Amino acid sequence: MAELSEPQSPSGVSPLGAAPATAAEETMSAITSGDGCGAANGLVQALLRSGNDVASGARPILEARQLYKAYRKGRHEISVLRGVELQVRQGEFVAVVGASGSGKSTLLHVLGTLDAPDRGEVWFEGRRLDTLSPREKDKVRNEAIAFIFQFYHLLPELTLLENIMMPALIRCSVPVWLWQRWSARKRAWQLLDRLGLASQANRRPAELSGGELQRAAIARALFAQPKLLLADEPTGNLDPANASQIAALLRDLNRNERMTIIMVTHNWELAQQADRVLRLADGQLHPVCREMPGGQWPATSAPDERPAS
Ligand SMILES: Nc1ncnc2c1ncn2[C@@H]1O[C@H](COP(=O)(O)OP(=O)(O)OP(=O)(O)O)[C@@H](O)[C@H]1O
Ligand SMILES: [Mg+2]
Repeated sequence: MAELSEPQSPSGVSPLGAAPATAAEETMSAITSGDGCGAANGLVQALLRSGNDVASGARPILEARQLYKAYRKGRHEISVLRGVELQVRQGEFVAVVGASGSGKSTLLHVLGTLDAPDRGEVWFEGRRLDTLSPREKDKVRNEAIAFIFQFYHLLPELTLLENIMMPALIRCSVPVWLWQRWSARKRAWQLLDRLGLASQANRRPAELSGGELQRAAIARALFAQPKLLLADEPTGNLDPANASQIAALLRDLNRNERMTIIMVTHNWELAQQADRVLRLADGQLHPVCREMPGGQWPATSAPDERPAS
């Protein structure tokens, strides 16, 4: 198994399409468009980060090296990722921002082996992922990498409890499942209870609110005790109150359970929960500094800046 190199400077994030209407939106727009962070300041941040990593001897749990990805439609080619470099340490919480269409979801899918890069490498815990067979990738995803999506992706015909146990059901053979089902059920109940959903355990997704559905999706993601959580706009479909709750939950998972999280978001409050914010622009990641021209980032929470689609 190959040794990973020491962490280098972090990579970035991106912008929104609509004209900003509030101070928070203006700030987020500046960040996502890259106007809000001077190059020198960004470089200092990156160097500081790199220095801290080396000093602590931290090795990345996840590393992307020179990732390229393009989509082809007929004679047209959309070049989305153009040499993405990323190193994420164990227990780090990284937010990725960027304009709609800049490739944030594509990047998460490539990092999590749902999609393959055209070129470049993805390493997880010292193991190269992008060259694994489909079966091996499935195994890594089942055991170590979990996804949360904007639209929950719960199975409508199953109850919440059944949805949460799905990863175990998929992973096990029938005899193993029969052997393990009671412990799986117990764990699913514990997760539902922890996320405040115990009373909804036997309801189907159609009977639940957006916030409840997202909490259930998080419970499902946590079921297999993943080492890496990849979240694609986890609050993109929620009102501010529910978004705050999900933000607090993710921060809690990161702080108290040292879960490594990479989260794509347009939500200002949620981005502030992260240790580091990166902007995806022009196919590459760029560090975003915490200080904006004219002062600090706003301390108040802001509504999700993403325009409703
Ligand atoms: N399967 C696909 N086939 C062709 N083009 C695609 C495919 N998936 C994504 N794209 C294109 O790649 C670009 C990046 O898409 P992606 O979904 O990664 O962007 P995004 O940053 O996540 O956007 P958003 O913020 O709107 O979710 C877009 O131009 C999109 O149209
Ligand atoms: Mg997306």
